[in-house]
Amino acid sequence: MAEPIAQSGETDFDAIILGAGAAGLMCAALAGQRGKRVLLVDHAPEPGRKILISGGGRCNFTNIHTAPDRYLSENPHFARSALSRYTAQDFLALVERHGIAWHEKTLGQLFCDGSARQIVAMLVDECARGAVDLRCDASIGEVSHADGLFRIALREGSFRAPALVIATGGPSIPKMGATGFAYDLARQFGLKVVQPRPALVPLKLPPGEALFRELSGVSTPVIARCGEGRFSEAALFTHRGLSGPAILQVSSYWHRGEDVGIDFVPDRESGWLLAAKRARPRAALRRVLEDALPGRLAEALSQRLAVEGDLGSQSDKALAAAEQRLRDWRFTPDGSEGFAKAEVTAGGIDTRGLSSKTMEAVKVPGLYAIGEAVDVTGWLGGYNFQWAWASGFAAAQAL
Ligand code: FDA
Repeated sequence: MAEPIAQSGETDFDAIILGAGAAGLMCAALAGQRGKRVLLVDHAPEPGRKILISGGGRCNFTNIHTAPDRYLSENPHFARSALSRYTAQDFLALVERHGIAWHEKTLGQLFCDGSARQIVAMLVDECARGAVDLRCDASIGEVSHADGLFRIALREGSFRAPALVIATGGPSIPKMGATGFAYDLARQFGLKVVQPRPALVPLKLPPGEALFRELSGVSTPVIARCGEGRFSEAALFTHRGLSGPAILQVSSYWHRGEDVGIDFVPDRESGWLLAAKRARPRAALRRVLEDALPGRLAEALSQRLAVEGDLGSQSDKALAAAEQRLRDWRFTPDGSEGFAKAEVTAGGIDTRGLSSKTMEAVKVPGLYAIGEAVDVTGWLGGYNFQWAWASGFAAAQAL
């Protein structure tokens, strides 16, 4: 591989990639292996820190059900091209080439058997194979563009290249070194940014929902709905509101002021309470709910439904109304736990200004944006890493 060329106090590369997270590492490795001289820069002390903490330390690195409709964006078809050219199977093949043992957990989610460290080590190894110049602990100073070259200032000098890739992710989990740097840079070059907001994040309930705070720690399978989002997974009550996979999923669809609807009895057939009245007329509602739900939740819901006495003494209409409420219990969150707890950021660099094939800015040749920095947000379950790999791949082919 050719050495970077130093000229007039500046070091030349074919591409400079900012951010050594999932997308940046992937893009750098592939571009390097295509013979490009790549500089990969990160301010964190080590690459891939979010990979290391992902999936409870086992990294849910992809999802075999990856499809464009599992991503949110103001430009819904944007992700289609990149996702079709680098698939979950492609990433799995890479994982297997590195001898990393894996398993499918649930809903198509693939995890390492061992540790997320193996995924970072694999990507760093792929970067080394591409002779990528990886610099961590780097503080990025001014970024400029003139005469077809991008220039970045680091402590150790100035670097330039005809291509610059923004891969610095979104601001979720700032304590991990996450920043909104990608948006500042995008705006500097005239790109638009779709308002970023926390996604895959627990939701908070107002004081009026205090009864449910007593349920902190209770988890139950539900169907949660918000906007176009509908997810059949577990919900968890917390001391501040709602969490668990079903809630994290709908949080990406939630906007302030909107309701979240929860079906607490997704496995019961329609008309189940009326059938219970016929079969067990002497039973109290709470007893019947206890067959379907954790005890504390059954008690809290039956208190709120205010159905007094045994089922046999209730009108069919009252029981049908109670069942309807159980199938679409409305919560109005008063906020989310914010970027501090959000697994990803929804919104970001507006994809209407990027090529869906190459991730290059339409109006700024040579400027690319990939990964979470752009307005493409996946469901929970390995979809966000798959977008990082696929968008990194797409840009790497064009550099
Ligand atoms: P990423 O955030 O990975 O990388 C950006 C890089 O840019 C970082 O290394 C950062 O240090 C660097 N950077 C930022 N600002 C900078 C600056 N100003 N100067 C220099 N460098 C800068 N997804 C999934 O599919 N499966 C999973 O199991 C999980 N699990 C998970 C758990 C937790 C706790 C979180 C927070 C997130 C997940 N995710 C996930 C989401 C996943 O981690 C995320 O979508 C990808 O890491 C995004 O990859 P990027 O490379 O775009 O950003």
